[in-house]
Amino acid sequence: MTVRRKVAVLISGRGSNMQALVRACARPDYPAKIVLVLSNRADAAGLDFAREAGIATEVISHKDFPDRASFDAAMDAEIHRHGAGLVCLAGFMRLLDTVIIEAWRDRMINIHPSLLPSFRGLDTHERALEAGVKLAGCSVHFVRPDVDTGPIIAQAAVPVLPGDTPDSLAARILEQEHLIYPMALRLLAEGRVRVEGGRAVVDAPTATVSLRNPDLP
Ligand code: GRF
Repeated sequence: MTVRRKVAVLISGRGSNMQALVRACARPDYPAKIVLVLSNRADAAGLDFAREAGIATEVISHKDFPDRASFDAAMDAEIHRHGAGLVCLAGFMRLLDTVIIEAWRDRMINIHPSLLPSFRGLDTHERALEAGVKLAGCSVHFVRPDVDTGPIIAQAAVPVLPGDTPDSLAARILEQEHLIYPMALRLLAEGRVRVEGGRAVVDAPTATVSLRNPDLP
């Protein structure tokens, strides 16, 4: 029987990466189960999808807290209340404080729409086009106090095509995000990722980390 690690997914908007994780979790052999989708915005579109999928949802608005530490503490309590042992940030648009990041060290991961360490932060697609890179992509990484700096678990690259706009490039990359995020969570949930010397070492045959993701139809 597959042992399923309990996961909380934090979103702020559309939630398409969360949806990719939910679809992966529907597979009988997938080693994780989403026990909570938590948003800092009540109007996050992804919440409806999660509710319809029968997943517990919570909204904790950062606006209801005087500072980041108390907002983080409320989220941390909610994540624990649902029994999650892993956290996936999926388009969660609030910076987290060091306290919660260290509390979840090597158990909290994020997806970022660039080939890290290039283009940390916002507006990655605009900046990639401006820089004239010929490959762009996405990365799943452990979360560290410095934004978008943690050990990289998985990446996918796509070509930058003539005539690309930030939107067309974003769409091409998003398809890959939906492949590598479920793959990275699988590796983490199966205990096949460890951090050594600040780098993530992935214990997986090459085929497992190819873009042919067995967790998606
Ligand atoms: C994705 O591009 C993700 O890489 C970034 O924010 C976006 C969220 O999209 N962190 P979605 O909410 O998962 O659709």
